[in-house]
Amino acid sequence: MRKFVQRALGKLQKLDREQVYSLVSQLAGENEQLEVVLDSMTDGVVVLDKQNRVVLYNKAAQRLLPVVGGEIDEKPVWTVVRDNEVAEFLKKSLENEDRVEDKEFTLEAGGATRIISCGTAPLVQDGEIQGTLLHVQDLTEKRGKEARLRRAESLASLTTLAAGVAHEIKNPLGSIGIHIQLIQRALKASGRLDRKTVGHYLDIVTEEVDRLNRIVIDFLFAVRPMDARLKEGDLNHVVTDLLEFVHFELEEARVSLVTRLEELPTVEFDEKFIKQAFLNIINNAVAAMPNGGTLTVSSARRGESVEVDIADTGVGISEENMTKIFEPYFTTKDFGSGLGLTVVYKIVKEHGGEISLRSKEGEGTTFTISLPIPQKELRLLGWKGRKHGV
Ligand SMILES: Nc1ncnc2c1ncn2[C@@H]1O[C@H](COP(=O)(O)OP(=O)(O)OP(=O)(O)O)[C@@H](O)[C@H]1O
Ligand SMILES: [Mg+2]
Repeated sequence: MRKFVQRALGKLQKLDREQVYSLVSQLAGENEQLEVVLDSMTDGVVVLDKQNRVVLYNKAAQRLLPVVGGEIDEKPVWTVVRDNEVAEFLKKSLENEDRVEDKEFTLEAGGATRIISCGTAPLVQDGEIQGTLLHVQDLTEKRGKEARLRRAESLASLTTLAAGVAHEIKNPLGSIGIHIQLIQRALKASGRLDRKTVGHYLDIVTEEVDRLNRIVIDFLFAVRPMDARLKEGDLNHVVTDLLEFVHFELEEARVSLVTRLEELPTVEFDEKFIKQAFLNIINNAVAAMPNGGTLTVSSARRGESVEVDIADTGVGISEENMTKIFEPYFTTKDFGSGLGLTVVYKIVKEHGGEISLRSKEGEGTTFTISLPIPQKELRLLGWKGRKHGV
């Protein structure tokens, strides 16, 4: 179509009135169609010229990116955008020609909060940069959905947790009740009190109260919202730090350590929490190898995630227990709280990650934690999506 128009323009002198009329109306029709397409898009599109002035923008861009009034096509775009943070981002990325990162912004407009993401890309025609394409996306609903899903997930785990607590406190409460009855009976039965027997009952009551207290403290630890402060970093550093920390413990337990750490892209995590999660898994692994064994810690990038495997050569987990191990208070240990893996699960979810495991009784268990690679990092890596294969 464009070629035809160009050819026709070359012969413009030779065209008669009617032919010129038909050419112009064809161009107008095409233009209108383009406008309809652009305006029907839910994403905002803004075209900038080489001086970063607005040449064209669609309806969605108008709605998502508030601009100051007046002639917006005369000055660089960052001087006409109303939000300071967006303006600063545009100035920085357009002036530095740094067109890699998309950035998210929270805008307050008309009492509503909107989350948008802005990204820029060079506008290339015939191998030459003609300007910039500014892409604005409305993430409000998507982020809202994600938050609702997270809340629902944590609510579901809260229900199991509450059921667990109810179950856990039943025994000590029952025992306290019985011993108080025994004390009452002892008080009624004899005029003279048998101090030794009552003292023994009271000791049991105190012990059970301590147990209840422990349950409540653990429960609060497991349900309290985590104020995870995610920072970008290299997960391998966390792993090496932690392994150095548990080095002597492993030696003492006759567990030899194998590490296979591949170079990783940056991911976002809260070091304190992630260390806690790895440590809980390592503690379980060591406990599963009472006669020693091998702990293998490996890390690698897999697709859009970074994965850390922690494998032991221990007793393994039976098929039946496999579905229960993340449940609060599930333990097969005499002195276990059964909250170790519940906490691990919570930490991983808080990071938007996944946890999975493979286990075979008598052979060992491998836990895999995967954390998502942030979108902008993927773009830097030139990630093209799973279907193209990497
Ligand atoms: N690597 C492993 N090998 C074999 N069994 C495991 C392994 N990791 C977890 N388990 C099983 O899962 C159960 C629950 O683990 P979790 O860490 O939640 O609690 P715990 O270790 O029993 O208690 P705590 O962590 O409070 O000491 C364990 O009791 C154990 O039976
Ligand atoms: Mg544990």
